[in-house]
Amino acid sequence: MKSKKPLPKSILFVCLGNICRSPSAEEVFRNKFKELSFSIKVDSAGTAGYHQGEFSDPRTITTGKKRGYELKHRARKVIESDFEIFDLILCMDDSNLEHLMRLSPSQHKHKIQKLTDYSLTKSYDIVPDPYYGDQSDFDLVIDIAEECFQGFISFHQN
Ligand code: 4NP
Repeated sequence: MKSKKPLPKSILFVCLGNICRSPSAEEVFRNKFKELSFSIKVDSAGTAGYHQGEFSDPRTITTGKKRGYELKHRARKVIESDFEIFDLILCMDDSNLEHLMRLSPSQHKHKIQKLTDYSLTKSYDIVPDPYYGDQSDFDLVIDIAEECFQGFISFHQN
């Protein structure tokens, strides 16, 4: 990642259930873009539809609130038009990546990356799934998303 790229106009964050990691990353990026007065559309979705229509996991909402983020997202599954509509698709782990690569029309596969590709510290190369974890795992999701935002901005902005 050498030359700086123009910022995308829209980003879709993707995890498995769309109730823990991707809605958290979506909200971190939404808030931070807003602070910088960037108008970039953000949304999130899951590769699975287990929690379609539900608000985020209560632990996700509580952790977000504690860290200054108000999560209002309702879970949805990735659909084919997402690959057309969004400029960039940032997923949380290698399983998400494989799933998205299988779903995506070939001309849009270049839009799919892992969020942690933007990590400057490279402490994590995935966002670990907190669903069966404890509070520290939910905090870690926000930590990684905030850290990757810094990397994302430094990669894109002049
Ligand atoms: P997420 O976490 O992919 O970060 O939203 C999960 C949510 C639900 C399940 C697994 C992971 N589940 O098995 O229901």
